[in-house]
Amino acid sequence: MSKATLKLDDKELEFPIITGSEGEQAIDIGNLRSATGLITLDQGFVNTGSCESAITFIDGEKGILRYRGYRIEELAEKSSFLEVAYLLVRGELPTPAELEEFRHSITIHTMLHEDFRRFYGGFPKSAHPMAVVSAVTAALSTFYPDSLDPDDPLHVEICTKRLLAKLPTIAAYAFKHSIGQPFMYPDNRLGYAANFLRMMFATPCEEYLVDEVIAKALDLLLILHADHEQNCSTSTVRVVGSSRANLFASISSGVSALWGPLHGGANQAVIEMLQSMEKQGLSGKQFLDKVKDKQSGIRLMGFGHRVYKNFDPRAKIIKKTCTEVLQRLNKQTKLLDLAMELEEIALRDEYFVERKLYPNVDFYSGIIYQAIGIPVDMFTVIFAIGRLPGWIAHWTEMHEQGFRISRPRQVYTGATERTLVPLAQRG
Ligand code: CMC
Repeated sequence: MSKATLKLDDKELEFPIITGSEGEQAIDIGNLRSATGLITLDQGFVNTGSCESAITFIDGEKGILRYRGYRIEELAEKSSFLEVAYLLVRGELPTPAELEEFRHSITIHTMLHEDFRRFYGGFPKSAHPMAVVSAVTAALSTFYPDSLDPDDPLHVEICTKRLLAKLPTIAAYAFKHSIGQPFMYPDNRLGYAANFLRMMFATPCEEYLVDEVIAKALDLLLILHADHEQNCSTSTVRVVGSSRANLFASISSGVSALWGPLHGGANQAVIEMLQSMEKQGLSGKQFLDKVKDKQSGIRLMGFGHRVYKNFDPRAKIIKKTCTEVLQRLNKQTKLLDLAMELEEIALRDEYFVERKLYPNVDFYSGIIYQAIGIPVDMFTVIFAIGRLPGWIAHWTEMHEQGFRISRPRQVYTGATERTLVPLAQRG
């Protein structure tokens, strides 16, 4: 198939079909409006491809996820988060020398400008850390006006390294501010995940030793979150970037998009759901009966995905890690037991089977974060740290390909033209 034909009354129009490297096909309707005066309407972009991209491939029917051609299962087993970040941003896996150079160039940027301390001081202690992280990320543009030109590859390179280096510091400071503890400077002898854990949990008064098993589990979680093609936050980063906004501003908007409970915020929502079940003494079946009652407005958080209609390969890996981490920490497994009970019932229940609803990446990740001691409202922040290389890779790809400003159209359904009645005559 190379063309699609659209019949409009007695007129026939042909549109080219674009074929991707894995065989998916799309009708290119770029000149539909100029040829017919019509637009397409696709609420939630369920059938709309917004770009061509060579970064991540997903086959939702078969449960396949690959970054730059590499299977997520293999990356999770054999690589580190920084290697994956390099792969996403630069397009190829690094050699040992390239990885060392990349690691070093990121490590030397981990500190935040001291004046940021005052900026943090302005936020209420109760502020949600996603709001703080989004604001501080946007504020990077005010501290580094020397690297904001989206058309200068050197600026983009510096901005990329600053973001990858500073986001864990920004995130950990948001947490420290919320509990009134001193900020911990990064320790550049440590790996990426270990450094983050130390900035989160150490204090200047005592020695803090990072548990390598926990650091490895966190590194794995970051890998699993690193990209997911045109999801809500990545599309947001692209849309904002398409106005030629700088990389810091674009990434800050991605953090805000990720915050929502239907996107990255779901990992927090899952734990809150499990805790409330535990508190109310609800069994898995009782809770699922509520979910299935549409009047209740309750969803089974951590279940369902726009793209995966068979299983989410990330969820499988996370479930295994979850069991390992809990065993290692010798933690009580009540929430894990509840989650497994819900999963088991849901996977056999007609409601979920019919709608092809399976556990997604968020279903088990929160249980691991909680076992590590990460507070619930920091869960989505960790998702953001993981997703950062993906956001940067998409923003950069868009700039390299050339783009037009993202500007969807609409079908107007409001009032037709009316005459304004002066204020005094209304009422
Ligand atoms: N619990 C109960 N019913 C559900 C759920 C759920 N988690 N997800 C979808 N449904 C039902 C929905 O009510 C609808 O039923 P009906 O056809 O009777 O109206 C049907 O399944 C299709 O749902 P949809 O909302 O049209 O599907 P979508 O593709 O627009 O939404 C989703 C995808 C992920 C937003 C949705 O499945 C959901 O809300 N899940 C819970 C939140 C969640 O776990 N989000 C994390 C997604 S993975 C991480 C990420 O990428 O951010």
